[in-house]
Amino acid sequence: MRLSKQQAIGIFDSGVGGLTIAHAIKLALPNEKIIYFGDTAHLPYGDKSGDAIRYYSRNIAKFLLSQNCKVILIACNTASAHAYEEVKNEVGNKAIVINVIEPLVDFLKNKQKINNIGIIGTKGTIESNVYQNKLKAANSALNVIAKATPMFVPMIEEGFIYDDISNAIIRAYLSENDFEKIDSLVLACTHYPLIKNQIRKFFNFKVNVIDSSQIVANFTKQILSENDLLCQTADQCNEFYISDYTKMFETIARMFFEEDIQLKKLDIWKENNLAI
Ligand code: DGL
Repeated sequence: MRLSKQQAIGIFDSGVGGLTIAHAIKLALPNEKIIYFGDTAHLPYGDKSGDAIRYYSRNIAKFLLSQNCKVILIACNTASAHAYEEVKNEVGNKAIVINVIEPLVDFLKNKQKINNIGIIGTKGTIESNVYQNKLKAANSALNVIAKATPMFVPMIEEGFIYDDISNAIIRAYLSENDFEKIDSLVLACTHYPLIKNQIRKFFNFKVNVIDSSQIVANFTKQILSENDLLCQTADQCNEFYISDYTKMFETIARMFFEEDIQLKKLDIWKENNLAI
């Protein structure tokens, strides 16, 4: 199928996390129209089975295709780890599918100064071993210390950021001996950039804390450019859909996108008559 420059970039996540990617896309590619879907009804993805994540992701991809997207960007590490192949099969040649893991691993491959790298993410991402395997394959000398930090997502979605509660939870997860020797830490969940500076502060700013937002945005720009699909005109409004209303989603979306956001609640499962 022939794609066109005017088509939108479809982005999805379980909730607000993917907005960190959407925001980076907006900065790197200001002419592009973004259609965002936050699956807040099924949040968090990190504790769900691979089958459930594949089912949600496939149907969100179908929805984004129905909205005429040229790119389907899986702005969720958990869905990227479990559902990338499934989404690619669903989408076929109707759009370009991008996940958040490969651009980050590619970026890390060429970093000489990293010896001991920590990875934190949801249970789904860490237990999939996808980062551990890909990083080891890229550089077998790398010491990889991975840990699931499942309370971060509900904590962030509840608005506990830059406060005593989140400081205590960060301390509880990261005060492990193994983390004392890391030189870099990968935020392998798109929610975590919302507490990035808090995590940097926990390590006294001595650890290089890496998140994927800018890296994925640059990667998307490169792919669009290679395919002659960069939008030239900036006259399109972004669209934001959620499967259940949450105040936090609205707050963060307005924080990142200063425009007048029309947030639409959409039950794509009901509309497609799909049982959850
Ligand atoms: N932000 C997503 C991720 O990168 C999902 C987190 C969740 O819903 O558990 O993994």
